[in-house]
Amino acid sequence: MTARPFGTSDRLRPFGESVFATISRLAARYGAVNLGQGFPNFDGPEFVKDAAIRAIREGRGQYARTFGLPEVTRAVAARFRATSGVEVDPDAEVTVTSGCTEASAAVMLGLVNPGDEVVLVEPFYDSYPACVAMAGGTVRTVRLRAPDFAFPLEDLRKAVGPRTKAILVNTPHNPLGRVLTRAELEGIAAIARAADCLVISDEVYEEIWYGEPHLSISTLPGMRERTVVLSSLGKTFSLTGWKIGWSIAPPALSAGVRAAHQFLTFCSATPLQRASVDALSAPRAYYEGLRADYRARRDLLLAELRGAGLDPYEPEGSYFVVAPHAGFGFAGDVEFVMHLVEKVGVACIPCSAFHMPGPDGCKDAEARSLVRFAFCKTPETLRAAGERLRSMGRVGRS
Ligand SMILES: Cc1ncc(COP(=O)(O)O)c(C=O)c1O
Repeated sequence: MTARPFGTSDRLRPFGESVFATISRLAARYGAVNLGQGFPNFDGPEFVKDAAIRAIREGRGQYARTFGLPEVTRAVAARFRATSGVEVDPDAEVTVTSGCTEASAAVMLGLVNPGDEVVLVEPFYDSYPACVAMAGGTVRTVRLRAPDFAFPLEDLRKAVGPRTKAILVNTPHNPLGRVLTRAELEGIAAIARAADCLVISDEVYEEIWYGEPHLSISTLPGMRERTVVLSSLGKTFSLTGWKIGWSIAPPALSAGVRAAHQFLTFCSATPLQRASVDALSAPRAYYEGLRADYRARRDLLLAELRGAGLDPYEPEGSYFVVAPHAGFGFAGDVEFVMHLVEKVGVACIPCSAFHMPGPDGCKDAEARSLVRFAFCKTPETLRAAGERLRSMGRVGRS
């Protein structure tokens, strides 16, 4: 026995277990249809899998160049040129990471100093505040609010100050499905320029949108030099377990990302990097097919949720739908989710996990008002979830 209090560091203790791990575990325990974590329950394209198998057979089993195989950084730069019209130097501006998750850790550890502030937009992807904490930074927040979840530019203006190092935006948005408009992005860009701070732009759902196409804030005037774009292969190619991601940023910012990345992982899995060249060279028809496919899945889940008495918000992008649980008689989103997992047999995510706690250590009522369903699932799974949800009794809207 030791008298010393060994355990999780003070920086990370407040974050506990990731909500996705918790919900996936509960889904397995209760045999629930899992619309929780955002991973497809179908496999990625055969041509990409074949490329990985070829790379393994060809003996691509050793470390890669730390910031990515040359052919991969070139393929990322070429794809970025095709989607955004912006030319980037693959050797100086692209860094291949182990998923966007590592990229967001590397960007914080490599560019944020202790005491710097980073503005996050609630609801946010849950790894962001943990990454800010690992870097010793401080989180400030602004919030997207129902019913339209418009970007709160006035709140952002108030949230940035002399200590703001970066504003982190995510579009298309998880969990709300917003695709930020040009006007919203121009508003954010103007605030970033005026405050002379960075923008970190998480664009992992860049290819999954249903109306207005995704626009990268890095393409707006005066933004390229202050933006770090983050993305990955996982969502676009239904290969979330491959964990191939990247950052795109001007050389001085990429140097910071790389300074952290080299000591986090040194490099990402070489054969999977090699196969991502084939993925990134996919013809336009692949991306169009992906969008058509997700539109059908989205419409199916919306219909199933409505059939069960829920009132979901229609997403403009990403593969998530949020819905309020008001009217079902539960105190908060966690209670509602626990009921769904244990009694109804459907797993989803309580959106309070995507908010910072208030000064009392608790999430406020607005933060606890929504639950998130993932529709990156087969039609059979989405229908099975709908069938179970329809068995749920409603107690009237409040
Ligand atoms: C907004 C957002 N960013 C980053 C990630 C993680 O991406 P990756 O699997 O490439 O690490 C996710 C995964 O769900 C996400 O939704």
